[in-house]
Amino acid sequence: MKKGFIFDLDGVITDTAKYHYVAWKQLADELGISIDLKFNEQLKGISRIDSLERILEYGGKSKQYSTAEKEALAEKKNTEYVQLLQDLTPADLLPGVEAFLQAAAAKNVPCGIASASKNGPFILEKLGIKEQFSVIVDPSLLKKGKPDPEIFLRAAKDLGIEPSEAVGFEDAPAGIVAIKAAGMYAVGVQTEEVLEGADQVVSRLDELSVDELLAK
Ligand code: BG6
Ligand code: MG
Repeated sequence: MKKGFIFDLDGVITDTAKYHYVAWKQLADELGISIDLKFNEQLKGISRIDSLERILEYGGKSKQYSTAEKEALAEKKNTEYVQLLQDLTPADLLPGVEAFLQAAAAKNVPCGIASASKNGPFILEKLGIKEQFSVIVDPSLLKKGKPDPEIFLRAAKDLGIEPSEAVGFEDAPAGIVAIKAAGMYAVGVQTEEVLEGADQVVSRLDELSVDELLAK
């Protein structure tokens, strides 16, 4: 029996991946590195600094920057990204999210957020759903990013449930690996990527029945 739901944010609750891409592409262009949407897929679920590392490696420029310079580049990308987030409203919730969260609330199912994004609380505020999550894991407190299970294990602990009592929701391959490594039931929210290893894949959250998930 399941007792709690743990959600990734970007790509599951709202489509911020497109803004991450715009901001990374702008920075990469300035650095003389050409990235495309296909490359962007591998950045999903990956922390800000690790995403920068992947871009620099892809462009063969990883060794050209010091740690301090890389931090400044990541900060520059984030300033652009946060600018793009300013106009987010509840209308930017992905289809089916509101209905699913309402159904979970009606059954008193505790919900948490396990996102690598340090902008998570700001985004949830903009979307008008921050209060619906009793736990929002702070990714800066974690040692390892997805695909390590740490962030999902922390969310379960903070929700006061066992990992085996949690259902995790993810749109990124690294996130599905993290959920399964945590010993949870994994729901894949399908985008272009094939989400191998998920227990179940849907294209929108309201295809799911809260009762059926709790009975897993
Ligand atoms: C994840 C996104 O949710 O958060 C990644 O899928 C992103 O693309 C990561 O790099 C970190 O986000 P932020 O907002 O802290 O730069
Ligand atoms: Mg995601």
